[in-house]
Amino acid sequence: MNPLHTPVLVKELLSLFSKEITPQRILDCTFGRGGHSLAFLKKYPKVSILALDRDLEAVQFAKSLQKEKKLCLKILHENFVSFPFKRLELFDLILMDLGVSSPQLEDEKRGFSFNKQGPLDMRMDQREKIKASDIINGLSKKELINLFQIYGEIKSPYPIVNEILLQRKKRRIQTTKDLVSIIQKHSSYQFHKHPATKWFLALRLFVNQELEGLKKCLPSYLALLKPKGFLSILSFHSLEDRIVKQNFRQFVKSNQGTLVNKKVIRPQIEEIKSNPRSRSAKLRVFQKN
Ligand SMILES: C[S@@+](CC[C@H](N)C(=O)[O-])C[C@H]1O[C@@H](n2cnc3c(N)ncnc32)[C@H](O)[C@@H]1O
Repeated sequence: MNPLHTPVLVKELLSLFSKEITPQRILDCTFGRGGHSLAFLKKYPKVSILALDRDLEAVQFAKSLQKEKKLCLKILHENFVSFPFKRLELFDLILMDLGVSSPQLEDEKRGFSFNKQGPLDMRMDQREKIKASDIINGLSKKELINLFQIYGEIKSPYPIVNEILLQRKKRRIQTTKDLVSIIQKHSSYQFHKHPATKWFLALRLFVNQELEGLKKCLPSYLALLKPKGFLSILSFHSLEDRIVKQNFRQFVKSNQGTLVNKKVIRPQIEEIKSNPRSRSAKLRVFQKN
């Protein structure tokens, strides 16, 4: 199990609490390799953390960490989209660090990366049935065009979608490299960006229903905050950030609390240099009344 993931904007998240007000209960909706949870546990040794992840490997990692370090951390193998409807206790901080972790990206068996040869899978939750290859081989032309236009914001997906249809008639598109070679036939690097970047991202968002899930559950998380509690969301994609921004605006409009920062929080240049993956991170924080 690959344990490496560098958490993003940790300093900024830790600084939400002043010296006088320390958090007692935190909900980490996206445990990953626990970088954020561990930073809070280190600064506030008395805090109790409930963590979720829909990926079994993240859950197993958390359990081994717990055993080894005897942490005040409970982990559940859950999708945060369905979680809030089941709970009663309230939290001082609810954290979501959206998207995939580095270990997920690095593991060729998971099929998230266009740089690795592996099955075209992309499921964050291994209990789900539909893989990226089922989508690529099963959707109609119109559905594929919609998928890549909506989730990948690709203006003209037609040549590549036509190529997918042509190739899948000959044999099933099974691997990441099968899809990459179809994409590369019709597009090339733009500003050092691999031509498959947007296509893989769109497929991942669709396979895991990431945007729909986020939209659906955010209002319920508001109800899980203590008074003066924070809902903090780190996103890496403009479509995700838009959902967060619109929901937070709505919360403010309905007098449920305030935005901690008027503008989105971005990593400093030093953080981007030491962790290039952080470059597209955007943090928004809402504080309940
Ligand atoms: C960017 S990583 C989080 C990294 C973590 N903050 C750390 O410091 O190690 C995102 C994690 O959230 C999980 N995840 C994404 N969407 C989820 C959802 N809807 N429910 C539960 N976990 C989710 C992924 O499986 C992944 O492990």
